[in-house]
Amino acid sequence: ELGQYRHYMQKEIFEQPQALGNTLEMIAGGNTISPQVFGAHAGDVLGATRRVLIIACGTSFHAGLVARYWLESIAGIPCAVEIASEYRYRVSVADPETLVVVISQSGETADTLAALKHAKQLGMDKTLAICNVPESAIVRETALRFITRAGPEIGVASTKAFTTQLAALALLTLALAKINDRLTADDENTYLTALRHLPVAVTKVLELEPEIEQWAQRFASKQHALFLGRGRHWPIAMEGALKLKEISYIHAESYAAGELKHGPLALVDRDMPVIAVAPADELLEKLKSNLQEVRARGGELYVFADAGSEIPESDGVHILHMPEHYGMLSPVLHVIPLQLLSYHAALVKGTDVDKPRNLAKSVTVE
Ligand code: M6R
Repeated sequence: ELGQYRHYMQKEIFEQPQALGNTLEMIAGGNTISPQVFGAHAGDVLGATRRVLIIACGTSFHAGLVARYWLESIAGIPCAVEIASEYRYRVSVADPETLVVVISQSGETADTLAALKHAKQLGMDKTLAICNVPESAIVRETALRFITRAGPEIGVASTKAFTTQLAALALLTLALAKINDRLTADDENTYLTALRHLPVAVTKVLELEPEIEQWAQRFASKQHALFLGRGRHWPIAMEGALKLKEISYIHAESYAAGELKHGPLALVDRDMPVIAVAPADELLEKLKSNLQEVRARGGELYVFADAGSEIPESDGVHILHMPEHYGMLSPVLHVIPLQLLSYHAALVKGTDVDKPRNLAKSVTVE
């Protein structure tokens, strides 16, 4: 069943082009974005959506955080993202006009299911599930649904579920932008072309595995690591840190790079590798000055740049260039080397990659 792969996690990382292609099949033939992909009555619900509340746990929560950047900047829709276990127990202000989006690979996560039921009890009945399992408990509870087609995900560390969730959230963003007249035909075309090209773009990133493996060898001996990103790549830094701690047991933290001076810079020394997600976007110059601060304290930098980010390699500054800059969808590409990095760090450490200690694939108890 594993074929050429050593672990399910590795297999699932490499299945991402296919998983994305399947999930985005409805736009493959040149079709435009239709709200119907979220359900027969989705047009009405999305047309009346003024706000979005995303609820999820773990990696699915990180997908929601990326979507917040997309929804606000492209669709002009205010968006909040909450951890399910927090949302379900806090006193919050319910808004029946809000579209509640729950994201879950398994569709069985106890906290996400309970948070969804809680939102419905508060009168929020415009609900959408983004889920990888069609017959799951969460999907049965929502008015609208989008089933990602990642295929079964066996490794405890979520990989292909995450990137397909991002694909679904990109479609949601574009559907809402279109309904709200914020998407020109040209822009729609550009985004759709980029989505269709994603499997090829991901395949090219996967070819970087040998270089990433070498990086992993270097810092598998470290006790701690710091992940930095800005804007829509901050959640990707979070996801990189989660992956690393989950399967290699290296303590990893993530920060929005602008927060460095507000505390975490005190941690940086030569024993603290700093991993930066550094695409050539509008925040690159800001990020570069954050990275200089790290270097000045002796921190070793591992920078995931892309085709357009001009960051010179130097002593203590290792750069890996992703093949192309991918604009709005760049988070989908930038998470891939971080998945590979944690996978290979775990291999060096000899941990149980597919079944990390203390964790279950689906968290059905709170
Ligand atoms: O099945 P779900 O997406 O609801 O699961 C949520 C989290 O338990 C899950 O993403 C977890 O954080 C992963 N093990 C991360 O790799």
